[in-house]
Amino acid sequence: MLHVESLSKHFTLHLRGGLELPVLKQVSLSVEPGECVALLGASGQGKSTLMKCLYGSYGADSGSIWLHAQDGRIDIASATPQQMLKLRQRDIAYVSQFLRAVPRVPALDVVAERWLQARPAPVSDLDAEALQETARIEARALLQRLNLPESLWELPPATFSGGEQQRVNIARGFIEPARLLLLDEPTASLDAANRRVVIELIHEARAAGAAVVGIFHDEEVRDAVANRCVALNH
Ligand SMILES: Nc1ncnc2c1ncn2[C@@H]1O[C@H](COP(=O)(O)OP(=O)(O)O)[C@@H](O)[C@H]1O
Ligand SMILES: [Mg+2]
Repeated sequence: MLHVESLSKHFTLHLRGGLELPVLKQVSLSVEPGECVALLGASGQGKSTLMKCLYGSYGADSGSIWLHAQDGRIDIASATPQQMLKLRQRDIAYVSQFLRAVPRVPALDVVAERWLQARPAPVSDLDAEALQETARIEARALLQRLNLPESLWELPPATFSGGEQQRVNIARGFIEPARLLLLDEPTASLDAANRRVVIELIHEARAAGAAVVGIFHDEEVRDAVANRCVALNH
């Protein structure tokens, strides 16, 4: 599903006289459908940077990131912004530690929106309404499963606690099966019960054929979800 080949990436620190900081050096990594690979490495080794490269947020200096997308094989490292947008709507889900909430959009719609994006645009108003309704039903089911209090569903997540925002983020990442699922410490602010729900969701995604790449600081979670670990170090 995913084949990373000799990926390199550095940052230029302009505030420090243009100092070059090499972060990823010739990283290669393959992930089969149904696998969950955990990235290991001390803080600052480039785990999050690699995830952002896989999501197309960071460009790479060299190397390639091949993904078997719905429309065929594509190199994320050289994809156009339009191609990247499409990949993010239908093929790749990214659950970061932090939710970037759009002001005024209720939690339920933040989640439902992801489900709608992955589908062809509605052909009529009636069709649009039916799709909206189905999306909201799916979103409700997931938020319920993640124990997000129902009183919050119609509120924008901007003022939610860290754990509540994280659950909205997780629901958004899992509502639509993705081919590539990127998880950057998805359980960092969750309690034990909700961690278990996330573990279940990851197992279900793997069973559905997703390739999962994750950073899991919680060893228990990592052992429960990953079938393989890959260490990043300079
Ligand atoms: N946008 C950025 N600009 C400059 N340096 C960065 C940026 N993002 C990360 N870094 C640096 O790259 C290194 C790797 O960071 P990161 O990928 O966040 O590591 P990890 O997730 O493994 O803790 C760190 O030294 C960090 O300071
Ligand atoms: Mg990190």
